[in-house]
Amino acid sequence: MPSLLRLEEVTTANLAAALRIRVRPDQEHNVEPVAASLAEAYVHPPEVAWPRLIVDGDRTVGFLMAFLDIDWRTDGTLFRSGLWRLNIDAGEQGRGYGRFAVEAVATEIRRRGGKEMYVTWHAGPDGPDGPDGPEAFYLRLGFQKTGEVSGDQPVGVLTL
Ligand SMILES: CC(C)(COP(=O)(O)OP(=O)(O)OC[C@H]1O[C@@H](n2cnc3c(N)ncnc32)[C@H](O)[C@@H]1OP(=O)(O)O)[C@@H](O)C(=O)NCCC(=O)NCCS
Repeated sequence: MPSLLRLEEVTTANLAAALRIRVRPDQEHNVEPVAASLAEAYVHPPEVAWPRLIVDGDRTVGFLMAFLDIDWRTDGTLFRSGLWRLNIDAGEQGRGYGRFAVEAVATEIRRRGGKEMYVTWHAGPDGPDGPDGPEAFYLRLGFQKTGEVSGDQPVGVLTL
């Protein structure tokens, strides 16, 4: 049976479903709401911000936004790609959609010739975000901490 799990571009037809995506209330400090990410996508060039809905059959289960070849240090010396935002709806977590999203972004970066995928997240399991922060999720999927911080967030990298 063909998989019904896919990414979709955000359009006038699915915008309302995109804006209904909500992480759990206790996770809200870990990620911007979808509306804020879409506003950021609007003000960035389309070749840099890559927002997509995660759709399973007729259910919109989450949202991701990748960054593609951004000027990481804003001085033109280092360009990186990775996962900027990931919001799996509260009622849809724990079903593999987060893993699917990470793998889909990895595929897109690889398709563009990239060899590494970056992500940053709020502080780890013992930090202010508690045991449900996303650090353990990213480490489980194979990301390794680079030792850098971006603002106050640890940086992780996955070799593709
Ligand atoms: C973190 C988040 C994206 C995970 O999505 P998900 O769909 O629930 O995760 P999956 O079901 O795909 O899980 C993939 C694997 O990670 C593990 N995992 C998921 N969340 C985890 C957590 N908080 N701690 C430890 N492991 C976790 C799962 O057990 C699973 O392992 P397995 O495949 O080996 O059994 C989701 O909980 C979320 O949207 N959280 C709120 C927003 C957020 O923090 N976003 C990230 C911003 S940087």
